[in-house]
Amino acid sequence: MAKAKVMYVCNQCGAEYARWQGQCRQCGEWNTIEEVKLSSNASPARTVTRAASLAGFAGVADGKVENLSQVQIAQTVRMPTGYGEFDRVLGGGIVPGSVVLIGGNPGAGKSTLLLQTVCMLSSSTKVLYITGEESLEQVALRAQRLSLPTAQVRIGAETSIDNIIAVALQEQPAVLVVDSIQVMHVNDVDSAPGSVTQVRESAAALTQFAKRTGIAVFLVGHVTKEGSLAGPKVLEHCVDCSVLLEAGNDMRFRTLRCHKNRFGAVNEIGVFAMTDKGLHEIKNPSAIFLNRQEKVAPGSLATCVWEGTRPLLVELQCLVDLSQYGNPRRLSLGTDGNRLAMLLSVLHRHAGIQLGDQDVFVNVVGGVKIDGTSADVPLILALLSSFTERPISRTTIAFGEIGLTGEIRPVQSGLERLNEAEKQGFLRAIVPYDNAPRNKSKMGNLEIIPVRNIQELVDLV
Ligand code: TYD
Ligand code: MG
Repeated sequence: MAKAKVMYVCNQCGAEYARWQGQCRQCGEWNTIEEVKLSSNASPARTVTRAASLAGFAGVADGKVENLSQVQIAQTVRMPTGYGEFDRVLGGGIVPGSVVLIGGNPGAGKSTLLLQTVCMLSSSTKVLYITGEESLEQVALRAQRLSLPTAQVRIGAETSIDNIIAVALQEQPAVLVVDSIQVMHVNDVDSAPGSVTQVRESAAALTQFAKRTGIAVFLVGHVTKEGSLAGPKVLEHCVDCSVLLEAGNDMRFRTLRCHKNRFGAVNEIGVFAMTDKGLHEIKNPSAIFLNRQEKVAPGSLATCVWEGTRPLLVELQCLVDLSQYGNPRRLSLGTDGNRLAMLLSVLHRHAGIQLGDQDVFVNVVGGVKIDGTSADVPLILALLSSFTERPISRTTIAFGEIGLTGEIRPVQSGLERLNEAEKQGFLRAIVPYDNAPRNKSKMGNLEIIPVRNIQELVDLV
């Protein structure tokens, strides 16, 4: 028998080596190189991947080159998924022939989301759901429990990519769901399902298939403990959209976030609630992330962050407390810890307020993650409020960036944020001077208080 060829592949960047080594020379990661067995006939692994990477440029494959302006653009009609939140994350619906990867931790609700989506879609288009992890009966039970319309949904239990492609060619669905890519295998590569090669080749074969037939493919992908998608990084390279379904600290809510999108903007989020009747979209997320208690407590303040193309109102909470031990703790949940350390320094240096002997805790209500700099001003205000034990009114909102010299800098889409705050019934907004509307101190009922530097914030509190 011919000896099976062996190759070593980095599961982070996909670099290939002839022998094993501890560190990948290409991406510098340690312990990421895995053994991959190639079947003895030809080298299917490489041919499939190469073909797939060329699939996006189908026109070039037959040696034709043309002017970009002359390329025929087919009118792509996006298919709405039936969930407005999901559509927005995808950039306005499903693009035919696109490959979308849905990642998430176990139990995040990936299977539930896709099952609900295909059932909603089935009334208007042909859909095929392939389950590799659950049995047909399990899926049917869940659909029944969620009272989903299942009459038009075609479903199969299969883990061989070759069979899936054959079935899909026969069924000709508009949307194909493969749950999950980690249990799939390509017949002529003899390594175990879930290994780098299998994941890579399965995804490559499905991508090529999607591009050739115009069938939109959804792949479910697992996320490892470190938070990256299990399998090689090339998985994310070969798909058109990579979407993560995340469960916040508060397990009720799920946010759907796009990390890569060839057909729209990234950083859009969709918000869902996991209930006993499946996932429900939340059209007005600001309402749930704000803690609207009547009692005002020191240390909490609402802010408006920008998510993709829309504002989101969230509540920040800070607790400043005299440290019991020699080493004061700084802990931030939902915001950047390094930024907190920086802001504490700015507060000391430019406003003379020393929190060096205090424990500082920061939390964003509802398990939302804030990135970006617009939460600097509310963070400082909440810190000061907790430190001085002076509550800030519930109807106050703030946003703005703080620079290292203590100046307050404007943030993008200031006006839209103010509009959203006004719509939600806030009465006062503390904003960077450059974000305040000119010649106007009020927008509707919203009083606007422009600030220029950190000292003015201290004076306000
Ligand atoms: P599932 O879609 O199986 O997760 P994934 O495919 O991402 O691993 O979702 C499973 C979780 O969702 C499970 O922990 C239970 C919860 N769940 C509900 O709370 N209500 C429901 O109606 C459903 C279907 C699931
Ligand atoms: Mg699942």
